[in-house]
Amino acid sequence: MTERSSRPPLTSSPAWQALQAHYEGVKDAQLKQLFATDQERGETFTAEGAGLFLDYSKNRITAETVRLLVALARERGLEERRAAMFAGEKINTTERRSVLHVALRAPRRASIESDGVNVVPAVHEVLDRMADFSNNVRGGKWKGHTGKRIKNVINIGIGGSYLGPEMAYEALRDFSRRSMTFRFVANVDGSAFAEATHDLDPARTLFIISSKTFTTLETMANAATARQWIVDGLKSEEAVAKHFVAVSTNAEGVAKFGIHPDNMFGFWDWVGGRYSMDSAIGLSTMIAVGPPNFRKMLAGFHEMDRHFRTAPLEHNLPVLMGLLTVWYNNFFGAQTVGIMPYADNLKRFPAYLQQLQMESNGKHVNLEGHTVDYQTGPIVWGEPGTDGQHSFYQLIHQGTKLIPCDMIGFCQPLSAYRHQHDLLMANLFAQAEALAFGKSAEQLTEEGSAPFQTPFRVCEGNRPTNLILAEKLTPQALGALVALYEHDVFTQGVVWDIDSFDQWGVELGKALAVRIIPELESASEPALKHDSSTNALIRRYRNLRGGS
Ligand code: F6P
Repeated sequence: MTERSSRPPLTSSPAWQALQAHYEGVKDAQLKQLFATDQERGETFTAEGAGLFLDYSKNRITAETVRLLVALARERGLEERRAAMFAGEKINTTERRSVLHVALRAPRRASIESDGVNVVPAVHEVLDRMADFSNNVRGGKWKGHTGKRIKNVINIGIGGSYLGPEMAYEALRDFSRRSMTFRFVANVDGSAFAEATHDLDPARTLFIISSKTFTTLETMANAATARQWIVDGLKSEEAVAKHFVAVSTNAEGVAKFGIHPDNMFGFWDWVGGRYSMDSAIGLSTMIAVGPPNFRKMLAGFHEMDRHFRTAPLEHNLPVLMGLLTVWYNNFFGAQTVGIMPYADNLKRFPAYLQQLQMESNGKHVNLEGHTVDYQTGPIVWGEPGTDGQHSFYQLIHQGTKLIPCDMIGFCQPLSAYRHQHDLLMANLFAQAEALAFGKSAEQLTEEGSAPFQTPFRVCEGNRPTNLILAEKLTPQALGALVALYEHDVFTQGVVWDIDSFDQWGVELGKALAVRIIPELESASEPALKHDSSTNALIRRYRNLRGGS
């Protein structure tokens, strides 16, 4: 491996050039042919780790493609960067921070250092406090201001302080305390708060204010509304103490809000927001599923961390998936990746992955701040199967765009409706098969298709998919699945030579909104200094907004 500084730019590097030449030779290869010439393909292009099985045989690749992609990863220093991450080096260079979400799920005995300090004991101290608190809420020991036990938990947070908790709650509903209600308020639109609380009794409601910075506009606005809702509902300022806890790195901000330090669960600047669902940000998850299940989820994460760190790159699930994304994104020019979980409980998983992938790898400059001359992070989107089949799959099957898809399925159902699970999985396998192999005009004719319809019914196939299979959607499997994508994103970022752990792009809009708020609300006509479009929109809004 060459040092980063002496490494050639990505697109002129030997491994990239070799892939480019190889691409020219295989770009028209048909999955149908690849399968016909290699009877073992469905068995050999597979990998397993942390309880997840990956079938990547239905990709437009050969064994040589995999060899060249892995060579690219090696040339770009994936192994060194992975070691640097696990060693707590400040690989988030633009914010000068370690990136240690892997420490959040490390066993008690492990040692992982940031700035020369082993962070694992602090992680477990917080986990233990979370467990005590969760048990107290679940067991009714923690009571609200009027002495009633807590029945409703509302997480207020946005981005990484929302998407992970909501996704995990939905995913693990079957393991959750059914007698309790869990809701998630993110949007600054007051309708979100109103909807989440309209049927709840303040005396039985606990708010978790989740915000790494404790300054985020949306979260602070919703937290203030929640505070008022409790104070008005219970007719006491003192009620705040029993109805609010905070999850944050900003102890001062939390204290200012009026939450006692004993009711704050901390984390650290080396946990990125979108990598935080297994930190104290997961408090609502822990209350919902209980500490033992939360720990099983952490064990799943950790198992995938171990797989990522130790499995040879050629058999390494996140590495293979990351490299396949590079392959389609940079060589085939694919713009998007579809995420299709065949599990209704994973309905929020695509949204979760949108932040993970797009906030991490939507970058236009490399680590040296130079504009890149290649594509970086793809657009991520998706819906659970089979729902998507009846809306947008048409475009994937017959449209003009190449959309590589990840399809995720489980062998055992969570519900008692086994036959329906077979129907679900039959659809998953059928879709991957149909996308790969399609149906030709000849086949259609043989089957008696009316000639005038034949061209419209042809499915060309050759549409790539990854198929991820696990035994059951358990806490452990969810942890492994999330960690799989975290390290997949990492792999892509290393190849693209970008900082996957900052998010400067979100700042501009936030600052402009802060400037516009008083312009919308001031009693006197403000002097507007925006562009003519923004000025006119603000004026129109002021005219029509009503109220005071
Ligand atoms: O605006 C983007 C962002 O900074 C995300 O990265 C983060 O997950 C989210 O806002 C919420 O931030 P916080 O947890 O500090 O409220």
